[in-house]
Amino acid sequence: MSIAYADVIVDLQQGDSGKGKIANALCKMNDYTHVIRYNGGNNAGHTIYHNGKKIVTHAIPIGVVHGIKSIIGSGCVVNAEHFFNELRELQNAGVQTAGLVFIAANAHVITDEHLAEDRQDNVIGTTKRGNGPAYRDKYARKGIRAMDVPQLQPFIIDLYEELHRSPNRMARILFEGAQGFGLDIDWGNYPYVTSSHCTVGGAILNGVPPQAIRDVWGVAKIYETYVGAKSFEPPDAIFKKIRELGNEYGATTGRPRQCNWLDLGTLKKAVDINGVNKVVFNKMDIMSQIGEWRLYDDQGQTRSYDSEDAMKRYIYEELPNVKQIVWSDNPNGF
Ligand code: IMP
Ligand code: MG
Repeated sequence: MSIAYADVIVDLQQGDSGKGKIANALCKMNDYTHVIRYNGGNNAGHTIYHNGKKIVTHAIPIGVVHGIKSIIGSGCVVNAEHFFNELRELQNAGVQTAGLVFIAANAHVITDEHLAEDRQDNVIGTTKRGNGPAYRDKYARKGIRAMDVPQLQPFIIDLYEELHRSPNRMARILFEGAQGFGLDIDWGNYPYVTSSHCTVGGAILNGVPPQAIRDVWGVAKIYETYVGAKSFEPPDAIFKKIRELGNEYGATTGRPRQCNWLDLGTLKKAVDINGVNKVVFNKMDIMSQIGEWRLYDDQGQTRSYDSEDAMKRYIYEELPNVKQIVWSDNPNGF
């Protein structure tokens, strides 16, 4: 095997947990040779701050900002026009992209027909980026793969050749996930889900054996957010406050995110199913400003704590197999 190891980032909630920030921090801390986006399309939005500049990517992995080969994996769907726009935006922000950005040959493409169809959605509350129809056609065996699109030719890469057959190199991979456990096609709250695999299983579908996995980083916020058609936010005014203080508006669509207390029961399930050994809780600063410490336990009961420390102690007890928990309120990294 020519893979040294692969770290995987999974979102333990409904997306928007701050994966981009963690990917950025891990790129600085490790000597990765590849960053691979393993699922989804440009329905995602990953925001990072690089040299003081805000950069939002939707399809291209954040590794490119660090000069690391960045690949849109075989588990993804790609909108070619959007891809070229995003490449241009990165270049305009001063990011070197030449020779660094690739698309897996067997990734599928999002067509204008997919987009037109998704724009009609009024049941799921999709991002209207054509994801569902593109994945449907992939599985119906009538999709178009990236390797068959002439304008994408300069960016096409064969993941098997790249990761297993390149001489003199042991690949060190970071898998960057999109969306999250609650939106996963199999484990999420169906049908209010996305159309791809957001779990660690989705990462290894990109041509990497399970033995290569080193760390599985689970990313969460200290409260929940969700964007889509179902009702998620309780009527209490405090959730409006969390939305304003936390600036909980979609990076892709600008839609307000519905807010709720941390759902520790579902988070534990996501930790177990993904084999998560490291967890990051983001936005601790927002909860400090709110000044209330609450969560739902695995019986769905609300629990309240007198202090941040008391709630942290409970979370540690509930996640005994997790080796490391990082409590983060730093927008730039851990
Ligand atoms: P789709 O992935 O555009 O089909 O949308 C399906 C559901 O997933 C909707 O509820 C979207 O709001 C949600 N969703 C898709 N991508 C993201 C994301 O990156 N962050 C948060 N929610 C997302
Ligand atoms: Mg996001």
